[in-house]
Amino acid sequence: MDPADRYAGFPPGFFDRADDTPDQVFYGPVRLVTHIDDRAIAAVGALYAELGINGSAPAPRRVLDLMSSWVSHFSTPPAELVVLGMNAEELAANTAATQRLVHDLNTDPRVPLPDADVDAAVCCVSIDYLTRPIEVLTDVGRVLRPGGALAITYSNRCFPTKAVRGWLATDDEQHGLVVAELVRRTGLFDEPRVALRTPPGRGDPLYAVTATRLPTG
Ligand SMILES: C[S@@+](CC[C@H](N)C(=O)[O-])C[C@H]1O[C@@H](n2cnc3c(N)ncnc32)[C@H](O)[C@@H]1O
Repeated sequence: MDPADRYAGFPPGFFDRADDTPDQVFYGPVRLVTHIDDRAIAAVGALYAELGINGSAPAPRRVLDLMSSWVSHFSTPPAELVVLGMNAEELAANTAATQRLVHDLNTDPRVPLPDADVDAAVCCVSIDYLTRPIEVLTDVGRVLRPGGALAITYSNRCFPTKAVRGWLATDDEQHGLVVAELVRRTGLFDEPRVALRTPPGRGDPLYAVTATRLPTG
């Protein structure tokens, strides 16, 4: 597919950002913080458990946490957890991780792993920072084994200068439509499902877009 066609229908500038300096500048300082509240973090762990991608499930064993930091939010971590992010010290502090990859997906959208290397892939509260998300998700599909689960979660907070402009211009429900469409356009997953995972009430909402890697493609 012509790269320009991949994003057909998205308004011009949708994937531009206010701060277009290299991401290593913004993500250079170590941030050992949580980006969502405890209730939303619990919802992430519950989602992973429900999808059978945490360590208490009999399988899968090897999981990729894309755009990771010092916490990955598994209630029980998988046997092998590959964490990919921008900050080496944050990844080093991630006690659930068994493999750490410092890699800028906006510079190179390819995930530095072999084909069909992981059983599941997750991305928590970070998808809005990708300037070429279809290329990244297509490569996530390459490293994910057929039948493997993809779980992308998001809330209503972000680093506004680093989130793409289209994310800032749309609301929580539209974000679900956007992320589902990005996954759909890879052609590598079944129909994405969007759900609000936190109960009504105060606190950070936690939404999930989930899909399963198709057997071919
Ligand atoms: C809001 S934090 C979320 C961290 C973690 N997923 C969590 O749930 O706490 C955003 C993360 O995205 C990662 N990130 C941002 N831009 C990136 C890029 N261009 N390539 C790879 N990772 C990136 C950063 O390293 C940072 O850890």
